Amino acid sequence: MIKTLEWTSQGVRFIDQTRLPTEEIYVTCGTYQEVAAAIRDMVVRGAPAIGVAAAMGIALGVKQSTATDVATLRTEFGHICRTIGETRPTAVNLFWAIRRMQQKFESVASQGVHQIKITLADEAQQMLLEDIAANQAMGRHGAALMPSSGGVLTHCNAGALATCGYGTALGVIRAAIDSGKKLHVFADETRPFLQGSRLTAWELMKDGIQTTVIADNMAGAMMRQGKIKAVVVGADRIAANGDVANKIGTYSVAVLAKEHAIPFYVAAPWSTVDMNTATGEQIPIEQRSHKEVTHHAGKQIAPDGVLVENPAFDVTPNKYVTAIVTERGIARAPFVDSLKELAAVSAALV
Ligand code: MRU
Repeated sequence: MIKTLEWTSQGVRFIDQTRLPTEEIYVTCGTYQEVAAAIRDMVVRGAPAIGVAAAMGIALGVKQSTATDVATLRTEFGHICRTIGETRPTAVNLFWAIRRMQQKFESVASQGVHQIKITLADEAQQMLLEDIAANQAMGRHGAALMPSSGGVLTHCNAGALATCGYGTALGVIRAAIDSGKKLHVFADETRPFLQGSRLTAWELMKDGIQTTVIADNMAGAMMRQGKIKAVVVGADRIAANGDVANKIGTYSVAVLAKEHAIPFYVAAPWSTVDMNTATGEQIPIEQRSHKEVTHHAGKQIAPDGVLVENPAFDVTPNKYVTAIVTERGIARAPFVDSLKELAAVSAALV
């Protein structure tokens, strides 16, 4: 299995996703500031991977603290959490992870500095294991939704590289193939950062899964030609009403799928569901550098001074979503009710 991220004695080790698919290079972040930079610069990306990277960054910052009393460590801890929290605003897994580490800190605060350090490092590693288990559970739930054969379209990368292993949307595809389904993946290249062509195609080919890369503007034509039987994507944040924030371009795919009567599935761990955000309207959308749009591989591809927009995510209204697959089970419309029911499922039972 690809090791997207890993806790080591030297720091947090990442496969550098900015170098794929041509170079498989691993980098070790030796400080929490380096982990924050790795998240911001998309060395590590994908909502679940960002969450666990955040937890490991926090654990690393605490481990390296020279504080000798809990009060001083708590002040430093607050600063570390703020630094990590300012990296990327849309993936709610980042804030879920910070909250979980804060709760863990307080739960053992009375046991002193040494115990806090050990506990937070253990917690971050536990989160990695839980993420892989959640993906495998999503795969088990979602495999049945996939067609028995034919093309499945995905957008961006919601695979092993976007998680701690196996993937969400790609986990569903992997599980369906393991159960005997004959799927062929169509991967949108996903402008401007090209997570589809660089990352999804790379990891699926590594697994021997048949993959065709298409430019984003080809999806409609492929659907019209009957080549796509289902769409499955990941999510960065799912509002309580089932609106889904995911990589820019997801909304267009969802609208196209509805027009062609193709089911549109979203696979995401429960840590991506934000029951405190009522609708997609309230989800903050990260704006990234214009250079991602005006330049490709260091070469300028738009005129100097042209106006540019570069929202990293869009929101797909729940009316386009056929079902949301989580490790707790599958939610369908009305999502306000089905997500509330899943919220009541104890994580321990999953
Ligand atoms: O900007 P990115 O590459 O972090 O965006 C990733 C996505 O939009 C993924 O589809 C989403 O995080 C789901 S990953 C399992």
